Amino acid sequence: MNTHIPVMLPEICGILGKAQNLRFVVDATLGLGGYSEGVLLKWRKAVVLGIDQDPQAIEAAKRKLMDFGDRFRAVHGNFRDLSPILEKTGMGKPDAVLFDLGVSSIQIETPERGFSFQEDGPLDMRMDSQSERQERAGDIINTAGMRELITLFRKYGEDPYAAQIARGIVRYRESSGPIKSTSELVQVIRDTLPAPVQRKMGRNPARKVFQALRIAVNDELEALADALNQCESLSSGAMMVIVVSYHSLEDRIVKRKFREWDALGRGNDLYRKPLVPGAEELKENWRSRSAKLRAFSFLEKVPEVTDR
Ligand SMILES: C[S@@+](CC[C@H](N)C(=O)[O-])C[C@H]1O[C@@H](n2cnc3c(N)ncnc32)[C@H](O)[C@@H]1O
Repeated sequence: MNTHIPVMLPEICGILGKAQNLRFVVDATLGLGGYSEGVLLKWRKAVVLGIDQDPQAIEAAKRKLMDFGDRFRAVHGNFRDLSPILEKTGMGKPDAVLFDLGVSSIQIETPERGFSFQEDGPLDMRMDSQSERQERAGDIINTAGMRELITLFRKYGEDPYAAQIARGIVRYRESSGPIKSTSELVQVIRDTLPAPVQRKMGRNPARKVFQALRIAVNDELEALADALNQCESLSSGAMMVIVVSYHSLEDRIVKRKFREWDALGRGNDLYRKPLVPGAEELKENWRSRSAKLRAFSFLEKVPEVTDR
């Protein structure tokens, strides 16, 4: 079932509305095209380039947005290649670049993709399901040593029980062989942690491990840092960068980058504190609960005047 509702779209449109002349927007995480559609409907002369590393998202968004004709274009790729992708399309410099990080509802709701700890599926988690070069979650879970697993769960999951869980996984592998599915992994984690610890963890005790694996499989944090660096070099004119993130690791990268640009006089970090969804949106879309929106507005570069 497709229950997709784009997160904080009115806020995003409000920020884009501050741009003087919005002609070209890059939706760097196209997903089901919720942001692209919002922009195309509101700015009748704007064109949108959507990028997604998930070929299924590209197909779904193309179908959904085909009525916009050549005002919408979709490219299968990773946003860490933002500059080369833009160069190849020949569409020029964008007025805004949007990022809505993490997984889409369609990815989460498709058990065969292996993203959900609530459904049984293979330990995959590749956002680019066509990529053969990329490791899958199962490769990591079944081949990494104990130290490596602890570091992974701590670094990308910020999981206080990283060591216990890693020990449990390695012990299970030794006695029962490789872990083959998402539900087997969840069960191993449940069997490893004492009941009071699980109660203290509140939601599913496997949540942080799944987050860590997904980030590692898709190299998510490095891709984000690379893409933001490319935004900086793209911004020879005024340009907005708007990022919606869903956990503190992503938000920290965005916050630091925007503050750095602000301190360098490249433009304005629009919100010292990120925007978060309002009560209405939370009621309508529970998935938006961890969203944090940050926005940066690059200034037009004024050519230096030299005295002769
Ligand atoms: C939260 S969804 C975006 C939803 C979208 N804003 C909408 O309203 O339909 C995130 C999407 O970004 C894609 N994605 C995540 N990291 C990416 C990357 N490094 N490069 C390209 N696409 C990426 C995912 O495949 C997923 O489809």
